[in-house]
Amino acid sequence: MQTYLRGRDMITTQEWTKDELDTVIDIALDLKRRRALGEPHALLRDKVLAMLFFFSSTRTRASFEAGMAQLGGHAMFLDSTSTQIGHGDTWKEIGDILGRYNDGIAIRQVDWGIGNDYIRAVAEASRTPVLNMQCDWYHPFQALADLLTIIEQKGDPRKLTINMSYAYAASYQKPISVPQSLILLMTRYGANVRLTHPPEFKLMPEIIAQAEENAKKSHGSFEIVEDFEEGMRGADVVYAKAWGSMLTTSDHEESAKISAHYQDWIVDPRRMEMAHEDAIYMHPLPADRNVEVADAVIDGPSSRVFDQAENRLHVQKAVMALTM
Ligand code: CP
Repeated sequence: MQTYLRGRDMITTQEWTKDELDTVIDIALDLKRRRALGEPHALLRDKVLAMLFFFSSTRTRASFEAGMAQLGGHAMFLDSTSTQIGHGDTWKEIGDILGRYNDGIAIRQVDWGIGNDYIRAVAEASRTPVLNMQCDWYHPFQALADLLTIIEQKGDPRKLTINMSYAYAASYQKPISVPQSLILLMTRYGANVRLTHPPEFKLMPEIIAQAEENAKKSHGSFEIVEDFEEGMRGADVVYAKAWGSMLTTSDHEESAKISAHYQDWIVDPRRMEMAHEDAIYMHPLPADRNVEVADAVIDGPSSRVFDQAENRLHVQKAVMALTM
């Protein structure tokens, strides 16, 4: 167990050692237990987290804000459109000044080609830790919540086949940060990770290379398949969601046109039956109901989407308590 993580940024789990990630899961379980028992755990009394959003959120904002209150501190909500960012405040002003007022800065900036660079630049300018609430490349707190959920629901990830699959959605071209973060983290934990997507929905080559390297080191496996139903076969975890064809086109309208060819990539009861009989269904939400996933699946007995959403709270509290 690693006990000194004070001041560390969480931008991607890939920059934390396996020991450090184990510590996060251990502390998250402890904080979850303490909350269940009603035990106070004001580990961040008088501390303030600035939360800067460039994009909408339900779970991320609510869970960070609730988590800071439960830890005895305060979370300050900042919407980029109501700051002076549009009038000249760059990453430097945000990092240096918010870093002086607060004990941590959390940022969601998912614009393709911008988000990760922006968060890293703020981290460089800030004297306090920076937490990535989702960028164009990574969604580390979602992946940590997913890991905790998988361990709770299925046990040791080394025995599991995890199918991270593309599914069709019509609402908007979603970032690739969730599948990228999930394949990076689950390959650290020795799982058999299967990435399933149509040819136009590739992830970043450097992330694929890291996932392959992780799998080698952890004695797990990593494979890519391009057939939706082949991806489902025998999976213990079906994690199917939409993402945009960012590596094929940066034009959202063109991406929407490409994705329209894959409208049959929906997780329905017939597809779930192709997975292992005890398979669980996961999705970070929000989902396009009856487009990405049938109601019968997301509301059915194999669905763990609400446990996943709850675990955002516990892993985020763990990382905040350790780093701030
Ligand atoms: N899963 C997730 O990040 O949800 P929000 O976009 O609602 O924050």
